[in-house]
Amino acid sequence: MTVIDPETELAPLEFAHTPHLAPTTPERREQILAAPGFGENFTDHMVDICWSKTGGWHRPRVQPYGPITLDPAAAVLHYGQEIFEGIKAYRHADGTIHTFRPDQNAARLQRSARRMALPELPTPYFLQSLRELIAVDGAWVPSGEDQSLYLRPFMFAKEAFLGVRAAHKVGYYLIASPAGAYFHGGVKPVSIWLSEDYARAAGRGGTGAAKTGGNYAASLLPQAQAADRGCAQVVFLDPDGNVEELGGMNIVFVKRDGTLVTPASESILAGITRDSILQLAADRGHRVEQRPFSLQEWRDGVASGDIVEVFACGTAAVVTPIGGLKAAGFEDAQPIGPLALELRQHLTDIQYGRAEDTHGWLVRLDG
Ligand code: PLP
Ligand code: COI
Repeated sequence: MTVIDPETELAPLEFAHTPHLAPTTPERREQILAAPGFGENFTDHMVDICWSKTGGWHRPRVQPYGPITLDPAAAVLHYGQEIFEGIKAYRHADGTIHTFRPDQNAARLQRSARRMALPELPTPYFLQSLRELIAVDGAWVPSGEDQSLYLRPFMFAKEAFLGVRAAHKVGYYLIASPAGAYFHGGVKPVSIWLSEDYARAAGRGGTGAAKTGGNYAASLLPQAQAADRGCAQVVFLDPDGNVEELGGMNIVFVKRDGTLVTPASESILAGITRDSILQLAADRGHRVEQRPFSLQEWRDGVASGDIVEVFACGTAAVVTPIGGLKAAGFEDAQPIGPLALELRQHLTDIQYGRAEDTHGWLVRLDG
């Protein structure tokens, strides 16, 4: 009997399963999980759901991980109609597997879809895709400290048509990759490069709030410039000189009076890590401000001692202190304090089941 969810009026998808005929051996998998790096190795399976304008979401499958065959005229290859998400699965000490605020990633994928004229994947289907993949590849969730299985849902225009309009055929996929620290040095403070020549996404009305590949493509040249200067990430400004975010993370400033300030802007990605960290800080009695924050206020605050910590946050990087800001005309050391790492500890304690999940953020994926 098919059970219809009364809230969404959706029946669960019925996934077809094609198991991998030659999956990774347990020995090789353990070798990978011992030092997973970031985004280098992938599990044995992937999820694939088709969408068409006439048929909606259909043909849900769990199949062996492998190349996707595309027509050379597939719209994504020409016009970049693509969106993605990033979310992690954590193994708890009792062996169970949990993820963190997946409803938020589902909602953000839907917002990205609206902006990029792609179909919205209903939240129950998003959650089901995570569960289906974990059901076959759960053994890939590592158990080492600060390790996780990074889940990468993505969607793109696969219709073979060169006319410039929203595609009538789309694919949603989910792949997974065991992950350790995103930055090579672990949680050591990183230096960041201020890009004064390039923006990551256009401001008002642009695509900055959508998690779409083009924003990341636009960040690659300034990111390479950052790397040339020994910086781990690039930070972007808006045309008015306000701080936006890093190439792949949000930024938070801590003031001497304990206030946390983070940029409010419609051209940045609304980070789920940032939202969670700000909530944990508010729970501890910190004031939290989301408002425009200029480069001038940043530099003046560091010079006067009014800013006592700066940190980056995101799913991949968790929380990473920023220890230096470099630009073409200056180099400012950034003050290091205890709060960033305390908040990181609290967040990861919740994610790994070591601290009480008072906000109901965890969702069990196995069983
Ligand atoms: N900003 C950008 C550009 C990102 O790519 C990310 C990572 O997903 C974030 C911010 C942080 O978002 P979240 O905390 O939801 O991972
Ligand atoms: C994430 O944290 O999930 C990101 O998207 C950042 C980067 C790896 C693209």
